[in-house]
Amino acid sequence: MARTCIASINLKAVKSNYLYAKSLAPNSKAIAIVKADAYGHGAIEVAAYLEETVDAFGVACIEEAVELREAGLEKKPILLLEGMFESSEIELLEKHELMPVIGSTAQLQWILNAELTKPIKVFLKYDSGMSRLGFHETEFKQALHVLESNSKIAEIVLMTHFSKADEPYDIFTQNQIDNFNRIAKETGHPSSVANSAGIVAWRNSHKQYNRPGIMLYGSSPFSEARYQKNLVPAMTLSSALISIKDFKKGQGIGYGSRFICEHDMQIGVVAVGYADGYSRHAKDGTPVFINGTRATIAGRVSMDMTTINLTGVPNPKIGDRVEMFGENIGINEVAEFSNTISYEILSKITKRVYKQYQK
Ligand SMILES: Cc1ncc(COP(=O)(O)O)c(C=O)c1O
Repeated sequence: MARTCIASINLKAVKSNYLYAKSLAPNSKAIAIVKADAYGHGAIEVAAYLEETVDAFGVACIEEAVELREAGLEKKPILLLEGMFESSEIELLEKHELMPVIGSTAQLQWILNAELTKPIKVFLKYDSGMSRLGFHETEFKQALHVLESNSKIAEIVLMTHFSKADEPYDIFTQNQIDNFNRIAKETGHPSSVANSAGIVAWRNSHKQYNRPGIMLYGSSPFSEARYQKNLVPAMTLSSALISIKDFKKGQGIGYGSRFICEHDMQIGVVAVGYADGYSRHAKDGTPVFINGTRATIAGRVSMDMTTINLTGVPNPKIGDRVEMFGENIGINEVAEFSNTISYEILSKITKRVYKQYQK
C-alpha cells in the first residue's frame, strides 16, 4: 500500500449505536440512514453488517438504493428520503421494492399516473417548519386524501423533518412536533418524525418509525459533551508521520506561513490532506493524537499533507500513526475547529482513503 491514510471502520460500533437508538425508543422501528455512502463509512459494508439487525434502511436517491439491492441486500425495506427525481424511476422503485417519500406535487402526480403492478407503501412528507421538501398544510391534506382513495397505495406513513432539533433548548422543535401532531392526529396513519437529535433529546417526537443517521456513526448531533455518552465513534481516520524537522523561532510553516513557530520547535508532516477529506478549514490548534498524547495542527492543511506541532510528543519517529479523529479525538471537536459539522467531514472522506473494516 503506497499511501498510509486509513479510515478504520468499526462495524460493531455502528451496530451498538443502532441498538442504542432502539433502546431510547423501544416502541419505534428505526430506519438506519445509510445515504451518502453511509456518511462516508461505505454503504454496502455497513448495510451488509446491519441487515439482520435493522428494521429498514434509508437512502437519499434511487441510485443509492439500487447499489444496495445489486449488492444482494434484499431483505429489508429501503426508504428513498428524497423520493423520485423523475417519473421514469418508478419502474426501478417497483423492481427493487423501494418506498418513496412523496414531498412535492410533481412526485405525487408521478405516483398517481404510474401503472404499478402492485400497491406500494409511501411516506407522505409534511413541511412542519424545515421549509425545504414537503407539503404545506392545505396541499398535504389534499395529497393525503387522493392517496387514501387510490388503490395503488398499500400504506401511507406521514412524516416530517426537523430543522433545529440539535438545539435542545430551542422551542422551534416543539412547535414542529405540535404542528405535525395536529395534522397527523386522527388520520389513523403511522408516522415518522425523529432523526438522531429527535431520538436523543426530543422523546415526544418518537413515532412508529424513527430515522437515525449521524448517531449510527458515533457522532452526537449536539455540541454538549453529555450527549456523546453511549455513542461509539465508528470511524478513525489516521495516517503516518512522514517527516520530522526542526525549526527556529519565527519561522513560518506551510502555505501562507500561517503558523509561526513561537520558539524553536519540531514540526511533523502527516500524510493526510484535504484531498483525503480532512478539512482545509482546520485551524491551528485542531487536535490530533500521536504516541498516546494530543498534539495540534500547525499550519494550513494542504492537499496531501498536514503539519503538526510535535512539542511534548514522546519520541516521535517516521511511521508513527497520527489519528486525525476517531477513538481518541472526537470528530465534533475537529469539526468545530474547522467551522463545520461532523456530517460534512465524514461524508467527504474521499475514495483514495483506504477503508479497513473491523467486525
Ligand atoms: C429526511 C431525513 N431523515 C433523517 C435523516 C437523518 O438525520 P441525522 O443524521 O441527523 O440523524 C436525514 C439526514 O439528513 C434526513 O434528511
